[in-house]
Amino acid sequence: MAKKVLVSGGAGYIGSHVTVELIAAGYEVIVADNMSNCDLTCFEGVKKITGRDDIPFYEIDCCDFGAVNKLFDEQNIDAVIHFAAFKAVGESVAQPIMYYRNNLVSFLNILEAAKNHGGCNILFSSSATVYGETENLPVTEQTPRLPSTSPYGNTKQMCEDILRDVVFATSGSDEPVKGISLRYFNPIGAHPSALIGELPRGVPNNLVPFITQTAIGKRECLSIFGNDYNTKDGTCLRDYIDVVDLAKAHVAAVSRMLDGKMKEDYEIFNIGTGKPLSVQELVDAFEKVNNLKLNYKIAPRRPGDVVAIWADTTLANEELGWKAERSIEETLASAWAWEKNLAEK
Ligand code: UD1
Repeated sequence: MAKKVLVSGGAGYIGSHVTVELIAAGYEVIVADNMSNCDLTCFEGVKKITGRDDIPFYEIDCCDFGAVNKLFDEQNIDAVIHFAAFKAVGESVAQPIMYYRNNLVSFLNILEAAKNHGGCNILFSSSATVYGETENLPVTEQTPRLPSTSPYGNTKQMCEDILRDVVFATSGSDEPVKGISLRYFNPIGAHPSALIGELPRGVPNNLVPFITQTAIGKRECLSIFGNDYNTKDGTCLRDYIDVVDLAKAHVAAVSRMLDGKMKEDYEIFNIGTGKPLSVQELVDAFEKVNNLKLNYKIAPRRPGDVVAIWADTTLANEELGWKAERSIEETLASAWAWEKNLAEK
């Protein structure tokens, strides 16, 4: 029988792409989402792409323990991929209580419900933000985490530690929890069908949605935050990972857990391309591949930005048998196709 994977936050940007790839790989997927940061656009897109109209959908808040526990009562869950969290760095600085409560309580509830139901495999959606402003580049999973500069980043570090501790405490018991944290670098792009993609509410904080919204005319001008950094062209360096490649990494990690291939009961993998790209290079590539001119200007540095971070992906390549495949051109073309598709809705 197909194994059941619960995707919390499955109606969101990354969750919807992961749902598509899990179904393609033969898993049964249950989606839970409280719709706090998305509408049904992506879930409807998932149904169209997969041709599946019967994906179980629970509109619940993972901060509601009763609702999460009931879901586990009703469904025989083999693995959970936990995305349900707030993710805006600046907002987390302004509203730390809201961020800590939401991101920590929802994850604790998932873990407790999983433990109550005989244990489970848990994949946590972590972030390169846990490395902070490190100078050891590229970062490996062994690179020490540095103190985070935001409550958002703190919640990622804390959830990693909580997962590790729960795995340790339940190891060898009747209710073992096994865990993997995937540390994503900068997820961008959209599904090649243009039926699912990133749907930021309000003014986007992240670079690529700001670019596509400027190109379509929703924003007047993109600001490149700083061109006086110590990099080849003065703009910051990041590791932009295509969202479909990222989704496939989740399938590889879930299969590793469900097929009993883990080497440790708690594992961590960097998920990126391993190739740094500057903001300017990304903007240039977007213009070139989509054959348009973007209205942009150089603006002051954005507080809190790290100058450069990119991944050493050797561990994910070797252990998960996974590698980023889509080119930056394909990814940026997909982001633009998604924005244009949205404009027609
Ligand atoms: C942030 C988070 C990261 C999270 C990611 C995706 C931190 C430090 N970073 O990454 O954890 O996973 O968002 O949600 O917690 N830029 C511009 N103009 C813009 C927007 C961005 O020049 O309008 C530049 C930024 O200065 C940066 C790069 O583009 O150099 C990428 O920025 P962004 O997309 O916001 O991602 P990060 O800050 O790297």
